[in-house]
Amino acid sequence: MEEKEKKAEQEFCKEWNHKEFQKKHELARKIVEDTLKQLNDVYIQRTGHGFIRFLESRMKTPESICEKLRRKGYKVDFETAVEKLNDLSGVRCICYSTREIYWIARQFGKDERFTVIKAKDYIRKPKKNGYESYHIIMDVPVPTDEKKEKVQTVRVELQLRTMIMDAWASMDNRISYKKDDKISPEMMKRIEKYAKIGRRLDKLIQRTLDEVVEQ
Ligand code: GTP
Ligand code: MG
Repeated sequence: MEEKEKKAEQEFCKEWNHKEFQKKHELARKIVEDTLKQLNDVYIQRTGHGFIRFLESRMKTPESICEKLRRKGYKVDFETAVEKLNDLSGVRCICYSTREIYWIARQFGKDERFTVIKAKDYIRKPKKNGYESYHIIMDVPVPTDEKKEKVQTVRVELQLRTMIMDAWASMDNRISYKKDDKISPEMMKRIEKYAKIGRRLDKLIQRTLDEVVEQ
């Protein structure tokens, strides 16, 4: 890495590690997670089963942000990151079936606390490599001062996946994601084929769950 780039990254990290900033993001992710847990309870009431297989929550690492800013041709600084990147804060909910994912997406759409900026439906329209997931990019209001009077919003990316979609994406992450130029065409084909198998399995699982779950 060039000296100039290193310096930019160091400057970036200083602001990034600011306590208030980190706390604000943590709080926003917690609000999204708590909402998912509450929705899960509603879903149990309705169907007898919860949709949460597990939840993951993470703050993007400074290294990953700087890499992404460079990749997208943006200036490497704190303001640009906050303004341009939607996934500084990420929450992932791993569900059992696609039907659950669309139900959750509808509930977030109806919830007036959240402003949905963008919904990316990679289930209806998977990526070329086969990636499937439903992403909701939204602004989450968080109280900022002690008296909780002032409200600020924090952008959060919520990813909704089935267990199968998540298994495929985890595999893809290790083998090929962001290493496309180093992956052989044969390997790419194989990964696409696994995604197709995953889609078939998801359909079978959905059908089976529908048989045993009272609607
Ligand atoms: P990134 O720079 O990858 O964050 O993409 P983006 O912000 O332009 O948006 P996109 O919807 O493509 O991806 C958002 C997130 O979805 C990524 O950070 C990954 O977590 C996940 N993702 C997207 N595409 C793939 C993929 O092909 N494979 C895997 N494993 N994950 C993916
Ligand atoms: Mg991302």
